This record gives sequence, structure tokens and C-alpha cells, in this order.
Amino acid sequence: MVVESKAIISYIQIQKEDLAVFRFKPKEGETLPQYKPGQFLTLGAHVQSENKVIRRAYSIASNPENRKYIELYIRWVRKPLPGRLTTVLFSAKEGDEITWIKPTGAFTIEEKKPNGEPDDRRIVCLGGGTGLAPFVSYARHLHDTGSKREIVVLHGASYVDELGYREELTQLEEESLDRGKDKWSFRYRSTISRPDEWFNRTWNGQKGRVETFLQSKNEEMSPLEKLVGEKITKDNTVFFICGWQGTIDGCLDVLTPKGFVTERSKRPDKSFEIKYESYG
Ligand SMILES: Cc1cc2nc3c(=O)[nH]c(=O)nc-3n(C[C@H](O)[C@H](O)[C@H](O)COP(=O)(O)OP(=O)(O)OC[C@H]3O[C@@H](n4cnc5c(N)ncnc54)[C@H](O)[C@@H]3O)c2cc1C
Ligand SMILES: NC(=O)c1ccc[n+]([C@@H]2O[C@H](COP(=O)([O-])OP(=O)(O)OC[C@H]3O[C@@H](n4cnc5c(N)ncnc54)[C@H](OP(=O)(O)O)[C@@H]3O)[C@@H](O)[C@H]2O)c1
Repeated sequence: MVVESKAIISYIQIQKEDLAVFRFKPKEGETLPQYKPGQFLTLGAHVQSENKVIRRAYSIASNPENRKYIELYIRWVRKPLPGRLTTVLFSAKEGDEITWIKPTGAFTIEEKKPNGEPDDRRIVCLGGGTGLAPFVSYARHLHDTGSKREIVVLHGASYVDELGYREELTQLEEESLDRGKDKWSFRYRSTISRPDEWFNRTWNGQKGRVETFLQSKNEEMSPLEKLVGEKITKDNTVFFICGWQGTIDGCLDVLTPKGFVTERSKRPDKSFEIKYESYG
């Protein structure tokens, strides 16, 4: 049976007209649900035009150590028709009530390998658009729990004003540079997939979709390998990918020929190096 609880929209930060960070708190008398970094929450709202409750899944961007609110990073779907739930959310105001179903999902960080040994391999996250959300949760979680595990967050967006969380992620990298990788090992890079459009004219960073971080020519190191300073292998890195199915496929096209295996097609000994969550 689905157990629905009531929540309040406590904060809305509009990044641009169709992209925003939303925070939710439990309604008085209710409790903030427990969750793991990488899980998603299901929001529900009554949609007047259809006279029914519409429920949709959203990856959680906050980290479980934050017991004040749950944060989501949401795109307002407008084409070809206005999305049902996102139109409610982008018309809402702080203080409005909504329902949620407790978080679930398996897009979580593994702390142990299938053989029981601790998994201390580097975590590389590739997020397209709002597919960055679960990785914000990973970064905040590893940072706030004092983890020494290396994490690299790579974000791809169409436009420079869609590089959500850029300031916070840059700050986390600054901290890593200041304190040293042995204490907090974090790197963040972003890429713009429509570099020739006028709006992106001042962008001088990486160009192309997020999977270009993995690509290389003539046995050269890929941008990711240059960033981490070594060849990426199954023994030193695990990948997490979130975005459109095309983003997942673009990454797998590079990683599969190198022998990397996804959780969904794991080896007989249950080992794998790639987890992904796609949104069609
Ligand atoms: C595990 C998971 C995590 C997710 N995490 C996030 C996240 O972090 N951030 C985020 O922004 N999204 C996330 N999503 C996507 C989210 O769940 C919704 O699919 C998305 O917000 C659109 O919901 P909607 O109700 O607004 O759109 P819908 O109403 O479901 O519309 C979906 C599509 O159908 C079209 N459509 C709308 N009405 C009609 C109609 N009457 N007839 C035909 N077509 C129609 C719309 O134009 C749109 O293209 C996630 C999805 C999953 C599965
Ligand atoms: N966990 C989930 O399942 C989840 C999480 C977050 C969001 N979503 C849903 O995903 C939808 C759109 O996400 P968004 O607005 O964040 O993405 P977006 O801004 O449209 O795209 C983000 C990046 O992905 C690229 N991209 C777009 N389509 C692609 C494709 N077919 N193949 C490869 N790359 C592609 C874009 O490149 P171009 O500039 O070349 O288009 C851009 O660089 C929303 O409906 C949202 O609700 C689902």
C-alpha cells in the first residue's frame, strides 16, 4: 500500500524560467523521511484539469545528514504540452502543500564490493541537465561524513545558465585543493553542449555533451583522465550516469569496449563498474 504524507514547499530558488531548486519540509506533525544519497522521492499533487492526483519521481539533491528539508532540482516540462506535475510546481508558492511518498531507489553508492571488500575506487559521476541532482547528494554526503573517497562530478548542460550548483561544487573543489586530496578529494567540471549559440558566447570551458569527458583520440588521455592524472581502469574507478537515455548510451559506447560492465548486466561474480538512471 502506498503511504502518502503531507509536506510543505519551504523554499523555491528559480534558476531560470523553467529550472528551479525546490525545498520541502514535512507538514507539522509529520517527520522528514530517511533516505540514501542517490534515491528518489515521489511527489504528488492534485491536478485540477484532470481532477486526480498526479505523482512523479524526483532525484533527491540534498543529503541524508541534512535533517531540515529535502531538496529537488526540477525542470518545468513545457513541450509539446505542459507537464502535469511540473506545471503545478512552477505555479506554486512557498508554503503550499504537496504530498510525498517516502524515498526509494538503488542508484546509491556501494561501500563494499560483491566479495565483501571495501570499495574505495574513485567515483565518477556524469550528469546531464537535472540529472546532476543525485550527484549533488553524493558530494554533500561524502563531504559531510568526512569521507576520503575520491569523487569527480561532471555536468553537461545546453546553456551556461543551466549549470546549476556550479558555485557550491566549485567551492567543494576549492576546499579539496586547500585541504589536500588525502583529506577531501573532490573535482568538478562542466561542459556546454550548444557552444555556438549566442547565449553561450562567453563560454571557454569544455564543449559538447557530458560524455565528451570520456572520449579521446589516438590513444591520448581523455579529458577525465587528464583531470585525474591517470588512466581510468575497472580497478580504480566506478561510474554513475544520470540523464537522458542518449547520455547513458553515449557513455556506455565509450566504456563498454574498454570492458566496463553495468550493474544490470553484472558478471557471474556479481562485479560491475557502472550504475545508471535514465529518464527516457
Ligand atoms: C527515477 C526518476 C527520477 C527523476 N528525477 C527528476 C529530477 O531530479 N528532476 C526533474 O526535473 N525530473 C526528474 N524526473 C522526471 C519526472 O519524474 C517527471 O517525469 C517530469 O517532471 C515530468 O512530469 P510532468 O508531470 O510535469 O510531465 P507529464 O505530464 O508526465 O508529461 C510528460 C511528457 O508528456 C507530454 N504530455 C503532457 N500532457 C500530455 C497529454 N495530455 N498527452 C500527451 N502528452 C502529454 C509532455 O509534454 C511531456 O513531454 C525523474 C524521473 C524518474 C523516473
Ligand atoms: N533520474 C531521472 O530519471 C531524472 C532526473 C532528472 C531529470 N529527469 C527528467 O529529464 C527531462 C529533461 O532533463 P533536463 O531538462 O535536465 O535535460 P536537458 O537540459 O534537456 O539536457 C541536458 C543535457 O543532455 C543533453 N541531451 C539532451 N537530449 C539528449 C539525448 N537524446 N542524448 C544525449 N544527450 C542529450 C543536452 O544536450 P543538447 O544541448 O545537445 O540537447 C544537454 O547537454 C525532464 O523531463 C526531467 O523531468 C529525470
